[in-house]
Amino acid sequence: MTDNQVTGLLGAVQDHDDYTYVHSLRVAIYLSLLGHSIGIKGDNLLTLSSGGLMHDLGKCKIPHTVLNKPGRLTDDEFVVMKTHVDHTGDIFDKSNDISESIQVIALQHHEKIDGSGYPLGLKGGKLNELARMATIVDIYSALTDRRVYKPPMEAEKAISILESMPNEVDQNLLLHLKAYLLEATGLPE
Ligand SMILES: [Fe+2]
Ligand SMILES: [Fe+2]
Repeated sequence: MTDNQVTGLLGAVQDHDDYTYVHSLRVAIYLSLLGHSIGIKGDNLLTLSSGGLMHDLGKCKIPHTVLNKPGRLTDDEFVVMKTHVDHTGDIFDKSNDISESIQVIALQHHEKIDGSGYPLGLKGGKLNELARMATIVDIYSALTDRRVYKPPMEAEKAISILESMPNEVDQNLLLHLKAYLLEATGLPE
């Protein structure tokens, strides 16, 4: 994978939808911080942040009416939205040199520990550790992203929502994210 490849693939996302681009950057940043805080280093940290940048590449194939719909998607719209993971897989298949680990992060970021996720409904032990981190950070970011139709949710509230999902997301990793976000930052308002 080259820097050009990342820029090119992310550029396709930015051309299609600025929100998805910003969301991808936020996911990559929070994944890097979470990874760093649990001692992931070197190439693995680069893999994690690259996986964050590329996790939603396939959204460049999802129509804006679904991608940016305010409020809840209908069942049919959700079926369309879920295909972004398969589109990401297609993009990887056409690209050279994107490491298997980066692909796994992107392809598993909507899987849940109890098997209720998509696209494959993988369970617990089948889930890659880095992808579990991506699942948590993706949900956290979606909740705290600013959208045209909603303000960003506060960090505390977003974390408490993730804490109410013990069957779906890895609570041990969540503790690390919580510690980092709620104890280490203390940034002025
Ligand atoms: Fe996604
Ligand atoms: Fe995402």
